[in-house]
Amino acid sequence: MASTYGTLFRIMSFGESHGPALGVVVDGCPPNLPLREEDLLADLRRRRPGQSRLTTPRREEDRPEILSGVWKGRTLGTPIAILVRNRDARSKDYRDLRQVFRPSHADYTYLEKYGIRDHRGGGRASARETVARVAAGAIARKLLRHRYGTTVLGYVVRIHRIDASVDPETVTARRIEASPVRCPDRKATRAMIETIEKAAENGDSVGGVVECVARGVPAGLGEPVFDKLHADLARGVMSLPATRGFEIGMGFDAVSLTGMEHNDPFEVRDGSIVPATNRAGGVLGGISSGETVRFRVAFKPPSSVAGRQDTVDARGRRIDLTVRGRHDPCVVPRAVPLVEAMCTLTLADHVLRHEALCGPIRTRNRRGEAKPTRTGSKTKPGKSKGSRRG
Ligand SMILES: Cc1cc2nc3c(=O)[nH]c(=O)nc-3n(C[C@H](O)[C@H](O)[C@H](O)COP(=O)(O)O)c2cc1C
Repeated sequence: MASTYGTLFRIMSFGESHGPALGVVVDGCPPNLPLREEDLLADLRRRRPGQSRLTTPRREEDRPEILSGVWKGRTLGTPIAILVRNRDARSKDYRDLRQVFRPSHADYTYLEKYGIRDHRGGGRASARETVARVAAGAIARKLLRHRYGTTVLGYVVRIHRIDASVDPETVTARRIEASPVRCPDRKATRAMIETIEKAAENGDSVGGVVECVARGVPAGLGEPVFDKLHADLARGVMSLPATRGFEIGMGFDAVSLTGMEHNDPFEVRDGSIVPATNRAGGVLGGISSGETVRFRVAFKPPSSVAGRQDTVDARGRRIDLTVRGRHDPCVVPRAVPLVEAMCTLTLADHVLRHEALCGPIRTRNRRGEAKPTRTGSKTKPGKSKGSRRG
C-alpha cells in the first residue's frame, strides 16, 4: 500500500505539507517499551526545517503529540498514533505553481496519476512527509537499542564534489552533530558549507551522499530470497524523496576489485567465527552477519531552485519559471536522520520477523543488560549454531 511500510513493525504515514498536520500510526511495536514524547524530539529536531542557514527557513517546532498506544510512559502493544501539526505553512508562495510543473519535481507525475493535486508546498511529495517516518523511526530506534543493543548512525560523506574522509568504525554522534552539515570531517565540512552557500547565492542547489552504519545488529536478520536485508534497506531509503542511489559495503567500487581483493576471510576471534574484514557491509546472502551494517544513499540536488528555468503549465504553455517559497539548497544534512529512520524501521521489522520465524534473539548478558548479539549469536568453532528456537 502506498503509505504503509513494514510487515510486523508497520507504519502508516499521512498528511500534506500545508495541511493541518502530518502523522503516523505505528502498528506492531511490542508492549512495555519505555516511551515518551521527549524520546521522539531528538530525531525530530535534527530533521526540522530552519535549523541553520544552510536549510529552508520554514520554521516548524515539530512537537509530536502521542495520541494512543502509550500509557504511563510505556507502550501498550496497541497502535501508536503520533501527530505533528503544521504551523508555518505559507501557501500563497505556491499560488503561481498551481498549474505549473516545476522541472524535476513531482508536480507533473502527481497530476498525471491522480488527476488532482495539492500544489501547496509540494503536498504529499514534500519532504515534510518525512516527519512521520522520523517520529516512527525514533520508536524503532528505542526498541533496537533497548532490546538488542543496536545503534544506528548516519553522516554526510559527500556534498557535490567534496568528499569527506571518515572512519566508519570510530565515527561518533558528537563529531557528526558538531558539524552544521553533519559531516564528521572538519576540513570537508568547511568546503561543503562554502559549496552550499555558493549554490544558494547563485540560485542553485547541490546534492550529496549520506553513509549509515548500524552497529550491534543481531546476526540472522533478512528473509531470502525477496526480502533480503539489503534489498529491504534499499527499498526503505529509496522511498525517501530526492534519493538517486543505494550502495552496501563496497557498493559500486566492488567492481574494480578482484574476488581475492574483495572477499572477507573468516577467522576465529574471542572464540567466535567472524569475517576479518567487512567489505560486504554486514550482509551475506541477504542475511545480517553480525558485523556492522554499512550503506550509502545518494541524494540529488533539489529541484526548486531560485534561478530562472524553462517549463510549461498544464495547458502546455511555455513558462519562464522562477520558483518562490522556502527551499533547501542542499537536502543532505537534513536527510541524515531520515536515512537513520528508514534503517531503524527496516531493522526493527526484520528483528520481529526473525523472532517470529526462528525464536527470540539472545541479547542479554548474565546481569540482564542489553548487549549487541555479536558474540552471543556467533557460531562457535566446532559447533553448529543450529536453531535458536525457544
Ligand atoms: C530533507 C529534504 C528536504 C527537501 N527539500 C526540498 C526543497 O526545499 N525543495 C525541493 O524542491 N525539493 C526538496 N526535497 C526534494 C523533493 O521532496 C523531491 O525532489 C520531490 O518530491 C520529487 O521527488 P524525487 O526527487 O524523489 O523524484 C527535499 C528532500 C529531502 C529529503
